[in-house]
Amino acid sequence: MSGDFSAWQRAVQAQMEQTLKNFLPALEHEPKVLHEAMHYAVLDGGKRVRPLLVYAAGELFDANADAMARAAAAVEMIHAYSLVHDDMPCMDDDDLRRGKATVHKKYDEATALLVGDALQAQAFLVLAEGTVEASRKVAMLSRLAQAAGSHGMCGGQAIDCAAVGQALTLQELEHMHNLKTGALLEAAVMLGAWAGKTLLAAESLALHAYSQAIGLAFQVVDDILDATADSATLGKTAGKDAAHNKPTYVSLLGLDASLALAEKLRQDAHSALLPFGDGATRLRELADLIVQRKA
Ligand code: IPE
Ligand code: IPE
Ligand code: MG
Ligand code: MG
Ligand code: MG
Repeated sequence: MSGDFSAWQRAVQAQMEQTLKNFLPALEHEPKVLHEAMHYAVLDGGKRVRPLLVYAAGELFDANADAMARAAAAVEMIHAYSLVHDDMPCMDDDDLRRGKATVHKKYDEATALLVGDALQAQAFLVLAEGTVEASRKVAMLSRLAQAAGSHGMCGGQAIDCAAVGQALTLQELEHMHNLKTGALLEAAVMLGAWAGKTLLAAESLALHAYSQAIGLAFQVVDDILDATADSATLGKTAGKDAAHNKPTYVSLLGLDASLALAEKLRQDAHSALLPFGDGATRLRELADLIVQRKA
């Protein structure tokens, strides 16, 4: 990974911190505890992989800065909301997230529930208030809704909850991962691209193939890290999947085959980007980051 990529990554991450702060409700507005908890859930933590994908795809299509910022903030708000709910006692029951106490531990369960609900609404508001032309804006709102809803992240989380202690087939596991994690990563790529222009069919197909590969790879690597890394490195409790009897790529295929699959998906992602040439360098580097990350 080039030094150039690291500098770009840090610049987007720093810019996102400010952008997210600007697009969250002000701390001095009532109800203050809810707004403080929303800031707590979103700011100061996280790798910001989804915003990085928005920016990488946006830059490929010369998107304007405001459109990219809104798309990136909206996707990251949906993601942060999904983490707050994922950690609640009714789901994964986790105490640690992004190196801090989870929202229901720091505040309480009702606040955590409302933080998630309010972040989801805020995400759509941020997108809706942008100045992108109406047809592209509707496409962005609609894609984000699909990715977040019962045919996307929420659907995947429902399958995850129902699958505890079950032996899923490889196909079922792939379907669950595609929904719970892949859908939002694909939305990040598509919203970033649409922040630039309406895509040609061939461009959409290539980005779809890229997103499918990195979306699945992201959760395969998450499963690998849960089994192999420590809590301090991850900023969340390691070893939870085995402790909770969750079906994962590691439990189904073993570690070596999971690592090999992640590497194959990285190569698939690179192949999908061939039509874009050098313009897609950042997207290529993000595929590498997603597969080679240590946290
Ligand atoms: C964790 O996502 C949850 C999954 C979808 C696997 P990230 O690993 O992107 O979490 P943050 O945003 O960096 O905390
Ligand atoms: C969560 O998957 C995915 C979503 C939040 C949609 P995990 O439950 O594996 O995520 P972590 O490991 O807690 O971050
Ligand atoms: Mg979970
Ligand atoms: Mg979890
Ligand atoms: Mg996990």
